[in-house]
Amino acid sequence: MSLDNIAQGDICTLTRFITERGRQCGSATGELTQLLNAICTAIKSIATNVRRAGIMNLYGIAGSTNTTGDEQKKLDVISNLVFINLIRASFTTCLMVSEENEEVIVVETEKQGKYIVTFDPLDGSSNIDCLVSIGTIFGIYKKTGDGPPAAKDVLQKGRQMVAAGYALYGSATVIVLATEYSLDMFMLDPSVGEFVLTERDLTIKKKGKIFSINEGYAKFWDPAIKEYIDRKKFPQDGSSPYNARYIGSMVADVHRTLVYGGIFGYPAHSKSPNGKLRLLYEAAPMSYIIEKAGGKSTTGQCDVLDVQPEHIHQRVPIFIGSPDDVDEYLAIVKKHQNHIKGSD
Ligand code: AHM
Ligand code: MG
Repeated sequence: MSLDNIAQGDICTLTRFITERGRQCGSATGELTQLLNAICTAIKSIATNVRRAGIMNLYGIAGSTNTTGDEQKKLDVISNLVFINLIRASFTTCLMVSEENEEVIVVETEKQGKYIVTFDPLDGSSNIDCLVSIGTIFGIYKKTGDGPPAAKDVLQKGRQMVAAGYALYGSATVIVLATEYSLDMFMLDPSVGEFVLTERDLTIKKKGKIFSINEGYAKFWDPAIKEYIDRKKFPQDGSSPYNARYIGSMVADVHRTLVYGGIFGYPAHSKSPNGKLRLLYEAAPMSYIIEKAGGKSTTGQCDVLDVQPEHIHQRVPIFIGSPDDVDEYLAIVKKHQNHIKGSD
């Protein structure tokens, strides 16, 4: 189906897209279709709450009481419950890992399916109360080992993912969905309450003109990061300096990187030796998506998708984006490593 079909009144909703894709790929059980539909519904519900949060008194800290003594419900607590309950009710999933839950969530035996879902229901917490773009990130894996589902089954490399996606609650609500077959974008049409296919087979530019990093931590960076960012600001080859953009919501920063090209980094630094972002439900799904688009994602030592998780809330440093930009960063890392080896 082409995007021109929209003009003909033949709209491809996300639900339709997922169902048709499931049929084309001869998916035997339809379980993935069912799971993606549940996630799509959860995202619609979160989008509605995000848009009405101020009116519905959903900002603030969960557990606190407001001036009239009512309990304030935090938007990310509600988003988490919506995600967990809809996935659980889809009968497709045996295990979930959420940023909001300390332990792995094991689905009741009678509702279990073969998938494992990792998610950050509402990413960009520092931006929630001031109405800056926030998002949802998810990764889908299959349970591989025998025996009843357990925490160890979740510790899979990103390369083993079968699908990943994010929703961005920005000036519009968008879902970017990566499956084994393609990377496609859907926008929420609020008038019909459906996500509509707006762009298929997304690709990222080979090289961009934007760098995105929290420069407030520059004091704590290692010399390779300092040199790389310096090169972007003071290029020595006669090229123009890069633009700096940093929203502070990974979904928004990575979405911009996907659409415009460039590089986003949340590196390790002396105050946080593994960076901040979590491997299973932030860095790995985003890396899966960007690699699908032809981009790259690295810890500085290896591809993020090749990191073997050791625990569910593990953090990982990341530089992600256009392939030439990530390669340039990696070349500088290598130069610094060789320099250290040489001086040993
Ligand atoms: P969160 O999961 O608590 O929202 O934290 C993750 C967010 C990312 O979206 C974003 O890239 C990063 O934190 C920003 O952190 P910082 O404020 O240190 O730059
Ligand atoms: Mg997060």
